[in-house]
Amino acid sequence: MISRHLFKTALIAALTTPVAFAAPDFEFSDRDLTTSGDVILFVGPDGTLSPQAAQVDAATDGRLSAALESEAFEGLFGLPLSLRAMAPFSTVTVIGTGDEPLSARQITDLGGYAAIVNDQDAVAVLADGLLTEVEGVGAYLAKGYALSSYTFTKYKTFDEENPAPIDYTVSVYSSDPAAESKFDSDLAYLVEGVTLARDLGTEPGNTLWPAEFVDRVRSAYRGVDNVRIRVLDADDIRRRGMGALMGVGQGSIHDPRLMVVEYTGGDRGDAPIALVGKGITFDTGGISLKQNNGMWLMKSDLSGAAAVAGTVLAAAKRGEDVNVVGVMPIAENMPSQDAIRPGDVLTTMSGKTIEIMSTDAEGRLLLADAVYYAQQEYEPKMLVNIATLTGSAARAMGDDYGAVITRDIELSLDMMEIGKVAGEDVWPLPLHPSHFEQIASLIADIKNTGGQPGASIGAAVVGTFVDETLPWVHLDIAGVDWRETETPTSPIGHAGWGVRFMDQLLRSDQD
Ligand code: BES
Ligand code: ZN
Ligand code: MN
Repeated sequence: MISRHLFKTALIAALTTPVAFAAPDFEFSDRDLTTSGDVILFVGPDGTLSPQAAQVDAATDGRLSAALESEAFEGLFGLPLSLRAMAPFSTVTVIGTGDEPLSARQITDLGGYAAIVNDQDAVAVLADGLLTEVEGVGAYLAKGYALSSYTFTKYKTFDEENPAPIDYTVSVYSSDPAAESKFDSDLAYLVEGVTLARDLGTEPGNTLWPAEFVDRVRSAYRGVDNVRIRVLDADDIRRRGMGALMGVGQGSIHDPRLMVVEYTGGDRGDAPIALVGKGITFDTGGISLKQNNGMWLMKSDLSGAAAVAGTVLAAAKRGEDVNVVGVMPIAENMPSQDAIRPGDVLTTMSGKTIEIMSTDAEGRLLLADAVYYAQQEYEPKMLVNIATLTGSAARAMGDDYGAVITRDIELSLDMMEIGKVAGEDVWPLPLHPSHFEQIASLIADIKNTGGQPGASIGAAVVGTFVDETLPWVHLDIAGVDWRETETPTSPIGHAGWGVRFMDQLLRSDQD
């Protein structure tokens, strides 16, 4: 018989197991600091205390300033010093700011460092007095805090010894009235978009297939204004002549989909920006089967589509003044008797044919149809595609930079600038006429790999389907979407890379 105790424990676990990550609650306050609990504050190399920090010092009878002195606190950017024996507080953590004026990105990082030092506990963060021109400092601290504290606990069992993470409140003490609204009506949605992308990218292949991806994204958009969602199923995909997308998906028992999210926040009739994301719910390589070392990571081969879903969500929820269309071709790349073979020729929606040299170079195939569809249906003024496309990009870039490829280096340099502001950096790789020559096929219009296979070859395949006069940005995020080390704002695991980048791109479009 199940003991009462066990039953009760199971019940509590069921009730407290969080279905999805919820960022801590952020409460913005301009009142004087309550003198108890944990507090986090920021101090530069000169050791000057802000008026808020001076209150903490006064409440601790000068033990804060004494500790900074005795510990020789250097105030280096992001470096924490946790102090105990700071009654009436339980812990006072000081985080260094460096001595340069802080950008929004750096303030976001400081918020991330705050989350890293705080152990999922109610905490007060003192936002005033940072050296910066940025308005709404507290909002960026909260954004960084929320991004940093992401966890994916859905498949963990909790009990008394391993309790589920609890909901807690972060009180941001700020006299800047802009902070609260900047967070609540803008940055919190960006965090939501990143969280959606991380959740989708972390979800295993057995729980996320094309139709399920569509359902998840659809439910994230429920009730959001000025959004229209279209989903093409396998019949529609076939009817529209998308032989490349269909070809990639046909080896799986889970049919492919093409999901389109239109957000009209700008003037009706204004050409949109098109964001096109690769959505492979699992990439086995197909008949060109991958080796099994590290194959599990191919559950996140939908990172591009996930980032598109998250970006458009954030823009729509905050009501950004922009027209944008997110196009997400979704398929599972499996080997089976129905799968495409090396040597097969597929006819794309554009009418161009592609000879399959490797069924593992599948991302460029579904992107070929998706970028063509985006141009045909929406006549965008700019097209960005984002994909975990090549191991080659991952080796070249590591996890510091996404690879950006354009036909025009000026555009790549603009993208570097956007990345810098966004907190997701990109670095250019080349696209040369020779890359197009290397994908010439003997029997079809092009082949899907060739020459020295790499990131530029992948871009050339996609670029074959993009009008040469259209500003076109190709992002290869194979190296950055999943992290083995943490950054201040991305814990180990899926980074949701690209939401912040594309979010900034949409914002810059207004300037
Ligand atoms: N999804 C992979 C690329 C990838 C590799 C993403 C590692 C993340 C981490 C892609 O579909 C692929 O298999 N690319 C091949 C292309 C090759 C067959 C031309 C690659 O890069 O090896
Ligand atoms: Zn892939
Ligand atoms: Mn592949």
